Amino acid sequence: MDVVHRIALIPGDGIGREVVPAAAEVLEAAARRFGFALRWEELDWGCERLLRTGAMLPADGLEALADLDAIFLGAVGDPRVPDHVSLWGLLIPIRRRFRQYVNLRPARLLPGVPSPLAAVPAGGIDMVIVRENNEGEYSEIGGRLYPGTEEEMAVQEAVFTRRGVDRVLRYAFALAAARRGRLTSATKSNGIVHTMPFWDERVAAVARDFPQVAVEQYHIDILAAHFVQRPERFDVVVASNLFGDILSDLSAAVTGSIGLAPSANLNPEREHPSMFEPVHGSAPDIAGRGIANPMAQILSGAMMLRHLGQARAADAVEAAVAQVLAEGGPRTPDLGGNAGTAEVARAVASALA
Ligand code: NAI
Ligand code: MG
Repeated sequence: MDVVHRIALIPGDGIGREVVPAAAEVLEAAARRFGFALRWEELDWGCERLLRTGAMLPADGLEALADLDAIFLGAVGDPRVPDHVSLWGLLIPIRRRFRQYVNLRPARLLPGVPSPLAAVPAGGIDMVIVRENNEGEYSEIGGRLYPGTEEEMAVQEAVFTRRGVDRVLRYAFALAAARRGRLTSATKSNGIVHTMPFWDERVAAVARDFPQVAVEQYHIDILAAHFVQRPERFDVVVASNLFGDILSDLSAAVTGSIGLAPSANLNPEREHPSMFEPVHGSAPDIAGRGIANPMAQILSGAMMLRHLGQARAADAVEAAVAQVLAEGGPRTPDLGGNAGTAEVARAVASALA
């Protein structure tokens, strides 16, 4: 009897509904080859459901996820719904309820994919953004006063706890120790005078437990410039929720396309299910045309397989994507090709088989 992994399948909105089924087929091919089973629990959560029923998900929805092994999500967001409503209605509650405090976003320049940066050699970028995913700048604390008047104001508080900061830093340091031994911290302690000096202090404190890791820190503004000018020098980059969000779109862009960038929302203690989703959103500008690149979703699936203990299957999925790219297989328009989502996914699945 094969091992069975029970996975919540949430395509969500826009291109999520195109790339999730395509990626699920690739993962099915991996399961067949490596002798395990994926039992999908498909959920229609998202903006479509919100417009139809008034809620992104059922009232007891989150609890139904608690017993599953993982969550495989496409994207949420629809032009008919304000973005903060969709994000706070589904994605952020999942990340917080299940203490997915590490958002792991690898950025590699794969052979066969041109970087928009002329100076970067093929295969020359291999870094991981570790984004704090539960607190920081994305907080509900704050409010608005005197709406519609000259005195109108908005206040938003950032929340940085020692527990929350230390646990993501420890994850990032351990990852750096297992990779090339270099950790870069994104800060802005010159302008943000309470939370960011605290962040810097915690980096210095946790660093004492990892003498084998070389630590450096940059303010977020110049760090963004370094991502463009010398991305090849970075190994693990740890950042707060907002800074990590921005840096990981930038790292996706310099490695060729946001359509290639995967991510994992991890609960490292495995007390709760982790969630795997691409860095990109629902891409309403191309949704419904069948041309979205499914590779970010497929590579997110590989991260999920690795988390589930199927390391050989995960390696094989990543190798199949790399093979299609390196051997000039079909590619979607974001990579300069004219293939569709399904054709690319089929090419990856057959490279895998
Ligand atoms: P986006 O990532 O959806 O799109 C940005 C650009 O990248 C667009 O031009 C899009 O066509 C392109 N793109 C994205 N994924 C692609 C793929 N797989 N293949 C080819 N091209 C791709 O970001 P945007 O436009 O800022 O947001 C659109 C919606 O998605 C909004 O409602 C936003 O709130 C939501 N969003 C959701 C996220 C999530 O569910 N995790 C993350 C980011 C945005
Ligand atoms: Mg983002």
